[in-house]
Amino acid sequence: MAPHERFRLRSAAHLLEEAGRLGLDIPYSDDISVLIERASLGGREVPNRLAVLPMEGADAGPSGAPSGSTSRRYRRYAAGGAGLIWCEAAAVRADGRSNPRQLMLTEETLGGFSRLVEGIRDAARKARGAGHSPLLVLQLTHSGRFAKPQGLPRPLIVQNNPHLAPLHDLPADATLISDAELAAIRDDFVEAADLAASAGFDGVDIKACHGYLVSETLAAHGREDSRYGGPFENRSRLLLEIVRRVREEAPGLLVSSRLSAADLVPFPFGFGMDPDRPGRIDLRETKALAGLLAKAGVRVLALSLGIPAWKPHFGRPFDQPVPGGAVPDEHPLEGVARHLAVAAEIQRSAPRTAIVGAGYSWLRTLGPGVGAAMVGAGRSAAFGLGRGALAYPDFAADLLDHGRMAARKVCTTCSLCSHLLRRQRPVGCVVRDPEYKNADREGGPG
Ligand SMILES: Cc1cc2nc3c(=O)[nH]c(=O)nc-3n(C[C@H](O)[C@H](O)[C@H](O)COP(=O)(O)O)c2cc1C
Repeated sequence: MAPHERFRLRSAAHLLEEAGRLGLDIPYSDDISVLIERASLGGREVPNRLAVLPMEGADAGPSGAPSGSTSRRYRRYAAGGAGLIWCEAAAVRADGRSNPRQLMLTEETLGGFSRLVEGIRDAARKARGAGHSPLLVLQLTHSGRFAKPQGLPRPLIVQNNPHLAPLHDLPADATLISDAELAAIRDDFVEAADLAASAGFDGVDIKACHGYLVSETLAAHGREDSRYGGPFENRSRLLLEIVRRVREEAPGLLVSSRLSAADLVPFPFGFGMDPDRPGRIDLRETKALAGLLAKAGVRVLALSLGIPAWKPHFGRPFDQPVPGGAVPDEHPLEGVARHLAVAAEIQRSAPRTAIVGAGYSWLRTLGPGVGAAMVGAGRSAAFGLGRGALAYPDFAADLLDHGRMAARKVCTTCSLCSHLLRRQRPVGCVVRDPEYKNADREGGPG
């Protein structure tokens, strides 16, 4: 492992030199045409392979309906030309909200979501022409262990986990959510997916990443006497049941999932981890799951890594941690390379599934060249930015119109957007968006 360093890459040649020095496989292509041409993604036509990844905004109204700020964020993404807009986590019920301002999709908020979709489509058309219609996927979630519906932790946990318990001062033998409650939450996911279809989304993502509820079932090796714990068949059941039911009840809807391909929490408490080498990734079960999801009709799969509340750098390589956070003991380029390797391995094992990877924002203007090399070599199907899109919502337009991103507009991976989210404050880019200037310094819940 190389020591942590801030970004100092001057060019693609410098990137490749650094990757060589660190022994990392980072592909690069100067030709980004594969990203900007029209394409088919999971059987759906998209204007380009440039994606906005889901980024919680913590700016919904009390009912969970999108607010003016939510709408502004998405209209900016839409006007920015991305071909795939993966909308942030929206809770399927109140006890699953990650904070009191998380979006929530219910009968009551359906009208607000429908207007959000109209606003996105309208902004996309106005900025990029009548033929430009991005693929719109809504991520559906239950926050499980990380639920804070009223602002304070109200964890609903699937298995006791000594690595994660200290985050909420949980006892080693905390009460677990029952199978009956998990089945009820499954039904809420199905209902919310139906509502998402009514609101006009093209697809839904059954969120199974970052240690949230469905993700935690995948890792529930130690959950005993349960349909949703123990052997792989049981641990994958909740996700597969939701996917199959949504496919039956909303056949026109694209059904996807965002998986943490590996939790990075050591086996047996993490999914995708090596039973024999503590802390090492083992993708055998992740590949098996991707295969089962493909059989169930999932043609687009988004990948992430890790549990951000535990160790955020695995999911989002950064220059600076959140204020007071730990500086990781690895070079951010190692984190980027891990994302790329995992995406490529899953894509190789599931060639008919379109894999959307993550972790590119740290690369700044060099990201699209790496993404183009990945997609060009069939190692993944799209290039997506999370923090990078929040900072630079028109990154896609600059790639489409000028063939490159502008250095003065990129995300600096300062982690202040994560800091805002942790403080349950509306999320925006403190560095690039004048409306959020100094937002990290304003008062509010700590
Ligand atoms: C403030 C913030 C909010 C996020 N919200 C979500 C979310 O709602 N759903 C999700 O799957 N990932 C979420 N993520 C993770 C991002 O989608 C993305 O995977 C991560 O930032 C790494 O990609 P990047 O390097 O392009 O930022 C969030 C990340 C941040 C920093």
